[in-house]
Amino acid sequence: MDFRQIFGADPETQASAPGRVNLLGEHTDYNDGFVLPTAIPQRTTVQLSFSPDRQHHFYSQELDELVSISDRDGTPQGFASYIFGCIQLLQQEGHTIPPLNLHVTSSVPIGSGLSSSAALEVATLRAVRSRLNLEIDDVRIAQLGQQAEIQYAGVECGIMDQMASSLADTEHMLFLDTRTLERRVLPFPAGAELLVVDSGVPRTLAGSGYNQRRAECEEAARQLGVKALRDITDPQAVETLPEPLRRRARHVITENNRVLEVLQGVSAQRFGDLMNASHTSLRDDYEVSVTALDTLVAILQQTPGVFGARLTGAGFGGATVALVASGQAKAIAQDVLARYNRKGYAGRTLVPEN
Ligand code: GLA
Repeated sequence: MDFRQIFGADPETQASAPGRVNLLGEHTDYNDGFVLPTAIPQRTTVQLSFSPDRQHHFYSQELDELVSISDRDGTPQGFASYIFGCIQLLQQEGHTIPPLNLHVTSSVPIGSGLSSSAALEVATLRAVRSRLNLEIDDVRIAQLGQQAEIQYAGVECGIMDQMASSLADTEHMLFLDTRTLERRVLPFPAGAELLVVDSGVPRTLAGSGYNQRRAECEEAARQLGVKALRDITDPQAVETLPEPLRRRARHVITENNRVLEVLQGVSAQRFGDLMNASHTSLRDDYEVSVTALDTLVAILQQTPGVFGARLTGAGFGGATVALVASGQAKAIAQDVLARYNRKGYAGRTLVPEN
């Protein structure tokens, strides 16, 4: 149902924000490291107006769920927790936010590792900013979105997803140093385009061991005597660590080095090799892959026209990203999905959109 059907009047403002896919630099952001995401065409749109009563009313069109809540209530569950978190954080920053009617509709798939939650946070914050003329810049929006996720949804995530949703576009890669927030907008490698295929195996972040990986990295940094694993560039330096910290740290260090190599300017072929190496590292050292992702990535990697492929996002299910020869993504997707789904999976193409 649309805004008018739910709230009986037209919205006073609306804003949207994209999901993202990360090309390289996975599980590096909470180690102060380097990431290379791009926005995807799928977006989340938030429409809003002031609420006529003392409660906020949040409606999700995809879930057909209406949540009514006041600021004094506890954090709600599900999609409403991200919106509620954004509003609470704005209030804590000193902004006065009246009760809101808020309508969400989204084409960003949930549970595919493409940051549907960051898109919701950024779209919500943009819509509130626009309605109340708040002076908050796009970086601050990303930071507030990240805090909403950490404090209200219980995921100790890094800053990549919200920065990508707030600052990236679909035509470029966004290089981001997550420590300094220095960023650079880069073209895709010449002669290549993106292919994002969902494995059909959903994941949830909080239940996925994500927070455990983060804790392992912090312990590895502590034992190595550095502020964050970003401060180490030589993979040999981790050899003294006990397992599994040694492999966890080795992933982060080699992954950061792969992102930095791209900054030097690499061919599509080399970029693909780095993506393949990233997948191997995520599978063997970081242990965040699952059989479905390994199967899909292997099929992609064996397919002519594919420069490289890897799991993308936190892992434990969700989507894969591949770099393929320009103009070939749709045909490659068809061929790859025929072979993958024959094994009993329900994979589907997400980018390019059908
Ligand atoms: C999730 C988190 C990000 C990042 C990735 C893994 O998407 O929200 O901050 O850590 O996992 O690279």
